[in-house]
Amino acid sequence: MKQLKKAIIPAAGLGTRFLPITKAVPKPMLSVLDKPTIQFIAEELESVGIEDIIIVVSPDSDVIKRHFTPNEQLSKRLLSDGKTALYEIEKKTGSFNVSFVVQETANGLAGAILCAEPLVKDEPFALLLGDELIYAGENDKPCIKRLAEIYEKTGKSVIATMEVFGDDVSKYGNIGIKDEEDGVMTVDKIVEKPSVNEALSNNAIIGRYVLSGEVMGMLKKLQPHGNEIYLTDALDELAERGDLLASCFEGVRYDVGDKFGYIRANVEYALRSKEIGEDTKEYIKELAKTL
Ligand code: UTP
Repeated sequence: MKQLKKAIIPAAGLGTRFLPITKAVPKPMLSVLDKPTIQFIAEELESVGIEDIIIVVSPDSDVIKRHFTPNEQLSKRLLSDGKTALYEIEKKTGSFNVSFVVQETANGLAGAILCAEPLVKDEPFALLLGDELIYAGENDKPCIKRLAEIYEKTGKSVIATMEVFGDDVSKYGNIGIKDEEDGVMTVDKIVEKPSVNEALSNNAIIGRYVLSGEVMGMLKKLQPHGNEIYLTDALDELAERGDLLASCFEGVRYDVGDKFGYIRANVEYALRSKEIGEDTKEYIKELAKTL
C-alpha cells in the first residue's frame, strides 16, 4: 500500500451560486472573517502531515496563486513597522507547498481531478473540495485525519459522510451501507441526489475523501454524462467491489459555496474569534430582540 502524501483541492468551478462575486474571484477565495476558505483547507492538511498540495485552478484565476506566494515587499514593510503578528500571518500564507494545474474548461469535479494526474500518477490522494469548511474543535479529530487513518489501516478508499434528513437527502450523493464497524461503514452503492423515496440511507457524501491510487486510472476510463465525467461513477464501481469505506466526522461542516452556509460560517467563526467573539455575541443578542 502506497503512503498518502498528496492532496488535491479543486478550485476551478464556475461558482454560479455566488455570482456576481465569483465572476472575478474564485469561490474558494471567499473569506470567512479574514482568511480565504482555501487556506483553512490547506491548514486542515497539516493534521495529516500532507505537504504536497495540488490546487486545480481555472485559466484566468491567478489570485489563488498570488495568495499562496510570499510577498517580500509586504513582509519587509510589516517588519519595519514593527507589526510582527501581521508579519507572521503573511509568512504563514507563503509557507504552503502548493502546485497549480489548470482546468481549461469546467467539466466537473472528476475533470478537475484528472488535471492533477501528471502530478499524482497512481499514488493515493486526499481530495478536499475548495468550498467546504470543516471546523474541528479542540477535542475533535480533523475530518481528513480520520479518513487518512482509515486509509492507512485498510488500504481502501474512504469518503466522509454526514447524516441528513427529509428533503435534504436530495441535495447530496447518498450511500447504501453493507455493514459498519467502529464507525467505519462499508459502502455497497451510491446514488447521486436521490428523491426522498430513492435514498439508500441518511448518509450524505460531503467534500472530503482519501482515494486509492487506482481511482485516477478509473476516472480516465469513465464515459461522460454530456460534458462531465462523474467522480461518483468511479466511487460506485469501488462500492460494488466492496472497496469503498465511509465515515462520519467530528466537528462542524459549512458549505461556503452556498449563501446561507457562507453567512453561517462567518457568524460562527466570528463567535469563536478571540478578537471579535464577545462583540459579535452582544451584537447578536441585541439584534435578536428586534427580530
Ligand atoms: P461545486 O459544484 O460546488 O462548484 O464544486 P461550482 O460548480 O463552482 O459551483 P456552483 O454550483 O456553480 O455554484 C465543488 C468544488 O469543485 C470545484 C469547485 O471550484 C468547488 O471548489 N470544481 C467544480 C472544479 O474545480 N472544477 C469543476 O469543473 C467543477
